[in-house]
This record gives sequence, structure tokens and C-alpha cells, in this order.
Amino acid sequence: MFKHEKTFLYPVRVSGPDPTFAAMLIEQHGGPNGELSASTQYLNQAVGCKDPAVKDLLLDIGTEELSHLELVSEAIKLLLGDPTIDSINQAPTLELAGGGGAMYVNSSGHTWTADFVSSVGDVVANLHSDVAAELKAKAVYQRLYQRATDPGIRDLIDFLICREEAHAQLFMRALEKVQNQGTMQNLGDKLYSNQYLDLSTGVDNQSPSIWNMQPGSTPVAPPSH
Ligand SMILES: [Fe+2]
Repeated sequence: MFKHEKTFLYPVRVSGPDPTFAAMLIEQHGGPNGELSASTQYLNQAVGCKDPAVKDLLLDIGTEELSHLELVSEAIKLLLGDPTIDSINQAPTLELAGGGGAMYVNSSGHTWTADFVSSVGDVVANLHSDVAAELKAKAVYQRLYQRATDPGIRDLIDFLICREEAHAQLFMRALEKVQNQGTMQNLGDKLYSNQYLDLSTGVDNQSPSIWNMQPGSTPVAPPSH
């Protein structure tokens, strides 16, 4: 069950309209590494998760990501302000097609798609995707932060970066908990599961010993058919 509270998770303040930045920030609203992708990914994974503690974590973080989506949405609305000839030129998709509100599109105007959601039904593989999702979100937010000039927007993005860092650390902690579950079971217990194939050779070839998976042995040739 979901309920909505008419307060934001964090204050959303802007000094004035900045449609150009709104058209960049929309990347984290409807882009592949944005808040809609994160919330739907974690909530979807929670449905099939058989580990009660991990399921609870996915539900909590998925719900928080919906609150992030709300924050980004509100920030975009405020940054767009009242439409003018200039603002339509600076953020044409959001002004012409969206009428001044946040849309589920990325910064190029491409629509959000469920293809952005990574969920394969394996708790270990899913959690690895979740760590990657948080770090990719942080990377995009850092680029936005570097380009932001409005103090309120910088403060909001800084908060969101901190929360994605918290989530990444929590998902990494969850990975430690599920080390013997799912695809981690019997990992590497067969011959070819523990061999490094040195297939890219030439003048700049690095020492195969860096990646040799069985210390003391020589890297083997690929299996012949
Ligand atoms: Fe988020």
C-alpha cells in the first residue's frame, strides 16, 4: 500500500527560473539512470525477493526513490517558471509538449522505457545491478552539480548524491548477506570457471599473471572444438 504525504523529503528551493538547467535536470527524471528507473527497478525486484531483509531494503529504497522523483519533478517545474519566448527556446520539449511540467523523458526528449529497469529474478545479480544503478545516478548528478549555479538546486543535488551514496553502500552490505544465495552458489567450482584465457595478445600484451585465476599455473588456451 502506498500513501502520499504533502511534504517533501527535502526542501526544494530555486532563486528563479532557469529553463536551460531544467532541460538538463530532466535526465534524472526520465533518463536511464534517473529516479523513475531506480524506483521501478527496486520495487519490481522486491516483489520476487525471497530474502525478507533484502525485500524490506528494496521496498524502503524504492519508496525513497519515488520521493526523489517528486523532488526532481518539483525542481524542474520551478526552474521552468512561466513560459516565455526565451524559455520555450531553452527547453522546447518541456515547454511545448509538457506545458511547463516535468515529463518522463531524458535530456534529449526520448521517452522513458521499462528497458531501463534491470531485474532478472536473481537476488545477487539484481543487487549488483542496484549498486551500479546508484553509482551511475551519482555520476550523472555530479555532472549536473558541476553545471548548477542556483544555490538551492546545488543543495538539492548534493542531498541526492548523498542519498545515492547511502543506497550504494546499503546494497553492497546486502550483497555480503547473500553470498551463498542464487547465482553465488557453486560459483567457480568447475574447470573452466577458474581459468583465464589470454586471448588478446601482441606487443602491448600485459602479463597474464595479473589475471591468472589459479596462482602458480600457466594461462591455458581456449577449448578447441
Ligand atoms: Fe535517488
